[in-house]
Amino acid sequence: MSSLLRDLAGAVGEPHLLTDPAVLAGYTTDWTRRYHGTACCVVRPGSAAEVAEVVRCCARHAAALVPQGGNTGLVGGSVPAAGSYRGGPDGHGGQDGRDGGAVVLSATRLTALGPVDTLAAQVTAGAGVTIGQLRAHAARAGFEYGVDLASRDSATVGGTIATNAGGMHGIRYGPTRAQLLGVAAVLADGCVINRLSGLPAESAGYDLAQLLAGSEGTLAVITAARLRLWPAEPVAAVVLAGASGVAEAAALQAAIRAAVPGIRAAEYFEAAGLDLVRKRTGLALPLGRARAAYLLAEIAGTAVDAGRLSGAGLPPDAAVALDRSGRAALWAYRERITEAISASGIPHKMDVAVPVARLAAFRAELDGVVSAVAGGRDWPVIVFGHIGVGNLHVNVLGPDPGDTGVDEAVSRLAAAHGGSVSAEHGIGRAKTRWLGLTRAAPEIAAMRAIKTALDPAGLLNPGVLFPDCEDPEWRTPATAATSPTPT
Ligand code: FAD
Ligand code: MLT
Ligand code: ZN
Repeated sequence: MSSLLRDLAGAVGEPHLLTDPAVLAGYTTDWTRRYHGTACCVVRPGSAAEVAEVVRCCARHAAALVPQGGNTGLVGGSVPAAGSYRGGPDGHGGQDGRDGGAVVLSATRLTALGPVDTLAAQVTAGAGVTIGQLRAHAARAGFEYGVDLASRDSATVGGTIATNAGGMHGIRYGPTRAQLLGVAAVLADGCVINRLSGLPAESAGYDLAQLLAGSEGTLAVITAARLRLWPAEPVAAVVLAGASGVAEAAALQAAIRAAVPGIRAAEYFEAAGLDLVRKRTGLALPLGRARAAYLLAEIAGTAVDAGRLSGAGLPPDAAVALDRSGRAALWAYRERITEAISASGIPHKMDVAVPVARLAAFRAELDGVVSAVAGGRDWPVIVFGHIGVGNLHVNVLGPDPGDTGVDEAVSRLAAAHGGSVSAEHGIGRAKTRWLGLTRAAPEIAAMRAIKTALDPAGLLNPGVLFPDCEDPEWRTPATAATSPTPT
């Protein structure tokens, strides 16, 4: 055993140091199966103190460290890079993990869940608590956690903060960032930040919790968080309506929003996604006939509020479910799209946001842009997402996993429509080259400065988030937006 592994075993206890290649494989392949990496080991600390000890070991041995939660991330950020690691603040010049790859730190044993503070409507949760566990815990006390997503039984508090996950209720409660009141975290040198007081009124310098939202494991290892809760609200109805396309679906969600007091979700999908779900699950065709596109909306309130849907101009064949099982049946058509796509192949997943007013124009150009890259090959395009916040998930099946042509073309299209290359999944390893389409060069320089200040040796999740300075291609989009700034 190398000295690094010996030290790590000392930090977490031998049973929680995993080195069996067959076991490591599950931690070094991402959920999509598009990204694979090399790890020398996985450590599973059981406390914040053990996390700090692991981080100090990695710093001493100049070993790269990849924080991991439920490994449900969709941009390759939760697994190490393939081959050897380059550390250093810009991804250069550091040392490799000594034993053939990075150390993966699995946060899944950090499962402490504090009592719900009903006065403040807050809770403290360990980084390894799943979103499903957190939501159930809040519900038992009469509260709701604002983020929900189909990966709820695996995705963790730490992972959702690190990616700033959005999910189904972003239109109502905002993304994870909007739920975050404080964090406990370990910095790259092993120092511990502990800000879990959740003071709603405080203005005393930089908000480090918000800095970690969307940091994708590059600035610190999150060990716990203080989270906002919302009073539980009854669900009055779920609506599934057919539409000709994204423009009609967006108009319908606006009409529903105007007619009822609380819209909790406005989700979009198309026939291609529905077909895959039906193939995988055997579910019946909804609404009695095939439609090009669908809007699924969830409404808060009572039967009276559900009655107000009559003023929303729903198509006559729209399905409206009031009871729990009927609502779940409609949700299944939307929630099972991700697994149905992955059952058909290894998708290229582009998670873009565009202003809601530009959704239709973006969608109109999308198929042509993909076809141009496909060059005559049949690459199915499956589009769905959180239409209420202008977030479309563009999934393309067919291209080789290592081919990034379609990823780039779709990213550029979103940017051309004033959008972002990442709405809720993060940049990860998948999109570093196109960060500059969304963030101007001075912003990236400021982000790099923060990274260098907090992790000067570049050991925390190297290769994630930042474009490689040596890659000439990343500069093109960044310098197109603003004057070039050396980074
Ligand atoms: P991981 O995948 O393990 O890690 C993700 C990133 O966070 C990595 O960069 C990792 O290094 C970092 N990280 C993890 N834990 C820590 C920690 N403790 N400290 C510091 N950094 C850490 N995403 C959405 O936003 N909305 C959705 O609706 C949605 N639906 C999904 C549905 C399915 C079926 C699947 C498979 C995924 C879905 N996702 C969705 C993507 C994914 O679930 C989210 O990105 C989620 O936030 C990842 O959480 P995780 O715990 O699995 O993190
Ligand atoms: C979703 O909205 O279902 C997720 O973000 C997952 C995905 O994009 O596949
Ligand atoms: Zn999503």
